[in-house]
Amino acid sequence: MIKSNKIICALDLPDLEDIKRLVYSIEYDILYKFGMEFFYNFGMKGIEEVKKIKPNCKIFLDLKLHDIPNTVKRSIPPLLKKINPDILTIHASGGRKMIEEAVKITNETSLELDIKRPLLIGVTILTSLSQGDLIEMGLNEKLENYVLNYAKLSKNSGLDGIVCSALETRNVKKKLGNNFKIITPGIRILNSNNQDQARVVTPKEAFNNGSDYIVMGRALISAEEPNKVIEKIISEV
Ligand code: C5P
Repeated sequence: MIKSNKIICALDLPDLEDIKRLVYSIEYDILYKFGMEFFYNFGMKGIEEVKKIKPNCKIFLDLKLHDIPNTVKRSIPPLLKKINPDILTIHASGGRKMIEEAVKITNETSLELDIKRPLLIGVTILTSLSQGDLIEMGLNEKLENYVLNYAKLSKNSGLDGIVCSALETRNVKKKLGNNFKIITPGIRILNSNNQDQARVVTPKEAFNNGSDYIVMGRALISAEEPNKVIEKIISEV
């Protein structure tokens, strides 16, 4: 049995009223993920509207920051000031300098604002990518090796954890320790459609492999009864 606060619901819907209805209807204490689709549609104001429904809800701001170090550095303070997220993502492929600048400014800004420092999490190889996709990009090493390299770089540069598929979780935890957090998207309930995801697992497999959080998008937000899906995940693991 796992706690509901290990489940992250990705609010990837095109209509803010539908999103608000979904958040209102969820009876469990879960995290909510605001990604690019949400942010570019509804912005900071949209997040505020969702917060009105669940004022204490935990926020996973999945904007996957990726740019030159200075630009990433300057983009973080306004996000902390205006949103105060619990988790924030940046691309590990931005490299050591970008990651270190992000860590530094996050620490400084959290102190200055007197807020809880968000977990800074590195995105490794997207769960929609397969080995074949990497080869097409000229990346000929094994996919797991890239994930592990990005994970090591993330840890050595000060990040709190990474996003990767649960297929790589065991290996990363073994090499980098249990305190290094792993967030796993690409979750599918048995017999559901993989859609554009390539490296998928069930919630049970993800937690058994050692993931700290799972991200549930379409398998949860498109369900007829989302609470039943959450209840099933909690009781099965
Ligand atoms: O609908 P589905 O469960 O596939 O949604 C997965 C969510 O997790 C999406 O919001 C996607 O942006 C996010 N995500 C991902 N792979 C990553 C990081 C985040 O699928 N590496």
